[in-house]
Amino acid sequence: MGLIAELTHRCPLSCAYCSNPLELERASAELDTATWLDVLDQAAALGVLHVHFTGGEPMARKDLTQLVRRAAELQLYTNLITSGVLLDDRAMDALMAAGIDHIQLSLQDIEPEAGDRSGGLKGGHAKKLAAAERIRAAGLPLTLNFVIHRGNADRTAQMLDLGEALGATRIEIAHTQYYGWGLLNRAALLPTFAQLESATAAVEAARARFGARIAVDYVVPDYFAARPKACMGGWGRRFINVSPSGKALPCHAAETLPGFAFPSVREVSLADIWTGAEAFQRFRGVEGAPEACRSCERVEIDWGGCRCQAFALAGDATRIDPACALSPDHALMRQAIEAADFDAPLTPRLIRR
Ligand code: FES
Repeated sequence: MGLIAELTHRCPLSCAYCSNPLELERASAELDTATWLDVLDQAAALGVLHVHFTGGEPMARKDLTQLVRRAAELQLYTNLITSGVLLDDRAMDALMAAGIDHIQLSLQDIEPEAGDRSGGLKGGHAKKLAAAERIRAAGLPLTLNFVIHRGNADRTAQMLDLGEALGATRIEIAHTQYYGWGLLNRAALLPTFAQLESATAAVEAARARFGARIAVDYVVPDYFAARPKACMGGWGRRFINVSPSGKALPCHAAETLPGFAFPSVREVSLADIWTGAEAFQRFRGVEGAPEACRSCERVEIDWGGCRCQAFALAGDATRIDPACALSPDHALMRQAIEAADFDAPLTPRLIRR
């Protein structure tokens, strides 16, 4: 269904909750333009419907417009996931001329001081607000994304107000997903249960107020859940994620799993990867779910949860996702919540320009 084109790990921001891998890929390792164009051609031939240009900051790639244009020519739905800090008038015009369909803009907070501190970029918040204006002025629907953590969860209601004031048609309130840098900084980022309840209430109130005018998506933290999420809609079922250097992955964190050889799009076609690569087959479908999950009535809903989280927390990707209350490892979630500490040191994501 979808190609997640991780064009680069370079980013002007340094958010401590970033889910990029700790081993960020350098610019010199990135796929060149011709290879990305070929990947887009192959994706369309394979039946992919939409392309999500992401990163890092995908606008750090000078050939972004060229890639968007090719995807649009192939009639792929194009979505740009961006921090917006590089989205000036010229870039906006170029993206529109190339045929961009949708832009998802991230905001760190509701006002400049907290937003700039969280993103690690002075002036970043103001640039984002200007980017929101440009997206609307260009006639595209505005989707805003706020990542929630302990440091900003208390302002969830104001984030929704800001989204309304900026003219968003969709607002995503997404609690931090604890992968990569987010997992490294988990102790300082996990909200309290009271914060979670209050953020959830703010979302429900906004949904009631907005009605059909503004859609509000809400992503809750696994750590407070009783059942796991269907990570990526199931391993190797809906998405191919291509890393900046060209590795084809079933999800953005798959490279953290030991014992896998992920094929490169430099060497293997997307079609062969999708249908034949062992790495894509390993956890696919009911047969690929943890054994104990296969007879569960929810197996075709959550597919046994997240393999990367099972490995990161329980040390074994074949175990039940600890987010599931039926998992023997579920106590790890509670222990993490109990160990949360707002004063724990934060390691900002490394910046690779
Ligand atoms: Fe890899 Fe969930 S992030 S399966």
